[in-house]
Parts: sequence; C-alpha cells; structure tokens
Amino acid sequence: MFLCRTELEGALAEEISHTLNPGKPPSITGQGLVIARDLPPSPWPDLIFEQQRIPHAGWIPHEQLKPISDDTFSTLFPPHRPSNPWTLHVLCPSGIQDQQWSRSAKGIGSALLRLAKSMVPEAGPGSYHQPEGDLPPGTRILQVLRVPEGAWFGWGDPSVGVRPYPGGIIRLKFDSRAPSRSYLKLEEAFQRMGREPTTGQWVVDLGAAPGGWTHACLKRGARVQAVDHGPMKIVSELRQNLRIVKSNGITYTPEAHQLPVDWLVADMLIPPGTALGLIKHWLGNHRCRHAVINIKLPQQNPYQAVRPIASWLQGQARGYQWSMKNLHHDRREITLMAIETSG
Ligand SMILES: C[S@@+](CC[C@H](N)C(=O)[O-])C[C@H]1O[C@@H](n2cnc3c(N)ncnc32)[C@H](O)[C@@H]1O
Repeated sequence: MFLCRTELEGALAEEISHTLNPGKPPSITGQGLVIARDLPPSPWPDLIFEQQRIPHAGWIPHEQLKPISDDTFSTLFPPHRPSNPWTLHVLCPSGIQDQQWSRSAKGIGSALLRLAKSMVPEAGPGSYHQPEGDLPPGTRILQVLRVPEGAWFGWGDPSVGVRPYPGGIIRLKFDSRAPSRSYLKLEEAFQRMGREPTTGQWVVDLGAAPGGWTHACLKRGARVQAVDHGPMKIVSELRQNLRIVKSNGITYTPEAHQLPVDWLVADMLIPPGTALGLIKHWLGNHRCRHAVINIKLPQQNPYQAVRPIASWLQGQARGYQWSMKNLHHDRREITLMAIETSG
C-alpha cells in the first residue's frame, strides 16, 4: 500500500509497475492510495510519487471497527507483540479529508492506545512513543489508515522505507516574514536532505520572486543572487546579503570565479524538458555543490515526463547523490535534491 497526492495516483501506479515489476498491475483507489500486489521481496527503492508506504498491509472492514473488539485488536497487535519501542500513526489518506473520518481515525487511535495499555503490558508507557517526537532507533510503527469502508493497517519501520512521520508528512511552521507559501517547499527539501545553506555560502535562486526561497536562504546567513524579472519582497533586515539580477534564469550563469556556487535553487514555471536542460547545465558541468530544483508536471502522463530526467541523472549526474520527490508542500510538481559527493 502506497500513499500519495490524490491527483498523482496514476503516476505512482506507473512508477511502481516500471520500478518494482509487481505480479499484478497496481490498483488505484481514488483516495490517495495505490495498492500493489505480488511485489518482489523488499527493500524497495524510495519512489518519486509515494509519500508513505505500508508494506504487507492488512484490511479491517468498517463493521469491525465500531467498537474495536478483542479479536480486531489482536489482528492489529498480532501475537509477536512488540517488545521494541513503538508508535502509532492513525490518519486518513489525502483523498479522505473529511471531518467525520478524521474524527473516526482519532477515536480508533485513542481506543488502540487504551487497549494496548490494558491488554499488552509490555506495550505500555515505557515502550510507546509519541508519533511527532524523536523516535529511538528500532522503533516500530503501527500505521492505521481510515477510509469509509474500513481501515488499512500494517507494522513497519524506516529499514523498509516507512517514514517516521504520520503519512510521511513533516509538519513545518510557516515563517510569517516569508513573502510566499513556496517557502515551505524549500524548508521541506532542506529537512529531507539533512543539509541547508550556512552563513556566508553563495546561493543562486532562479525564478526567485516574490522571495520565499530567497528568504529561507537569507535567514540562514547565506548570500543570495535572486534571478527574476518579477518584484522581490524581502524584509529589510535580510536585504544586506541579497543581490537581485533581472535576467533569464534559464540561461543565467554566474561569473566563472564564483563557480561552483554552494547552492542552486530553482522554482521557475518551465516545462520538464526545459528543466532537464537546466539540470544538465548545472549538474552536468558541476556548477553547484547542492541543488534544489522544482519541476512542474504536465497534466498528461506526469511519470513519462519525469523518466528522461531520471535516466539522465542515473547516467550522467556524476559526483552527486540525488533524489526526486513529490514533497508534501509540492503541488503538481516534484523536487530534485542533489548533494555533491566529490570534487
Ligand atoms: C512559482 S514562482 C517562484 C516562487 C518563489 N520560489 C518563492 O518562493 O517566492 C515562479 C517565478 O519564476 C519566474 N520565472 C519564470 N520563468 C523565468 C525565467 N525564464 N527566468 C527568470 N524567472 C522566471 C516568474 O517570474 C516567477 O516569479
């Protein structure tokens, strides 16, 4: 079971077919879920369009959830009961954002914790951890996904690609000084990369206006060249390290003595083919040490549009460790994140 943005289920199903070669074509529920059967043994690679996964998901029909009987509880907490630390992620998938089902998910969560405490003493306060906190190594995650017809569930942990955040979503706080919501996309990318610009580093921001991404870099003390014809709205206390360049971001290259720049970040409204040209220009010639590049997806065949980019990166992005992801704060977009590994 894979979770994704609702409108990208078809792209994820295609990606699963192409990458994991399942025994049967994956099915799409319309709820932000893709069900893949007869997959080869895990580990499976992190997929571009997945936001979370439930390996070996089980199913409990609606009738068995209200209330949760002892039998249903022992299905969820099977006899090999966790002696490890554990946590619980109960949620509705992206296609079921309805109060009734969110409330029901919450109720299931509380009932499960109550039953676990009384029926499985070793799963009590010592071993249970809050889902939003830092989890100790080896923490097992019970995911329960409420949909109107019942609930999907399964145990997993990061070693099989289960993300340690409910629904795979990192909750980030918006900075009210940032001039656009796009700010959160770059913050999420930094979180995923485990890297961020530091004081004095050089950043080139292509398609920078009104300045959400520039703000994220300036607030960390970096120096930013913001390339855009549109107006920038950066708070005055951060403008000292900002240089605005009214130029075309597709062809813009800093002067030779500035290369490689520490960070290239780009968020222009350009088609995937043009984005590939940009990627070749910057990563193919090692013009940056880190890159975060947002790629807009077409309405038709988004997975097919991404494949040439992935295959170029696989063959040619030497000296970089990279990944592409439909981030939680992305819309119909994916984000390429790259970190220099040599040179
Ligand atoms: C989605 S907005 C960027 C938002 C920005 N990242 C932020 O956080 O506020 C896209 C921007 O790309 C700019 N843009 C599109 N094509 C461009 C090009 N060829 N060169 C420079 N800027 C471009 C547009 O002017 C627009 O300001």
